Amino acid sequence: MEELRPSELGTLEFWDKRYKEENNSFQTHGDPGEIWFGEESAERVINWMLRNEIQKDSNILDLGCGNGMFLIELAREGFTNLFGVDYSQGAIDLARAIAHKQDFTFINYSVKNILEGLDQNFDIINDKGTYDAISLSENSKQNRELYLKSVFDSLSDDGYFIITSCNWTESELDEQVSNKFVCHKLIPTPQFKFGGNVGSLVTTIVYKKKLK
Ligand SMILES: C[S@@+](CC[C@H](N)C(=O)[O-])C[C@H]1O[C@@H](n2cnc3c(N)ncnc32)[C@H](O)[C@@H]1O
Repeated sequence: MEELRPSELGTLEFWDKRYKEENNSFQTHGDPGEIWFGEESAERVINWMLRNEIQKDSNILDLGCGNGMFLIELAREGFTNLFGVDYSQGAIDLARAIAHKQDFTFINYSVKNILEGLDQNFDIINDKGTYDAISLSENSKQNRELYLKSVFDSLSDDGYFIITSCNWTESELDEQVSNKFVCHKLIPTPQFKFGGNVGSLVTTIVYKKKLK
């Protein structure tokens, strides 16, 4: 498996600058900002949660929540214990402003670097695009290990870790997490065919903890 070349998407400076612009745009036009990988990728995860009767009072964490739109959608569906962390203060300011405007002030947001660990336990941990961003940082391999340790340590033993990636394929993700997690469900995503090979632009997998 080849390492990705580091890029500015793997730096806090990039995200701070980006969310500064998105906060300005939200203040001026009410635009919540980029929906990474399209609205359907969040919808697919939420539909899976609804089909699998995830309890509405489960502790749910969105890792690298950005503008927090995933949690807003969960709040609309009636989920009540919602948490979002992001290492960019600008992301958290934006997420709080959006939640406030939509009267979902019960969503808990905090500034946190996932690589430094989390201080709470969760039934569901969701990631859309954050593992991807970390994979583009300097020392990506080491950072991915720290990330996976943080997720493992703060996920309840019967919890679900749901990851959506556009940088890694299903087999690459399985290989990277295999020490700690086992695939529970591959959520189908649109596929494309090129030169006889079938691939996906985005991969979403639900993992469970590997328990000794
Ligand atoms: C591609 S964006 C995705 C945002 C959001 N999950 C979404 O789907 O709209 C990646 C996010 O990860 C956050 N991030 C990157 N590295 C992080 C880290 N070490 N700890 C916490 N957040 C991080 C960035 O600030 C950014 O908001």
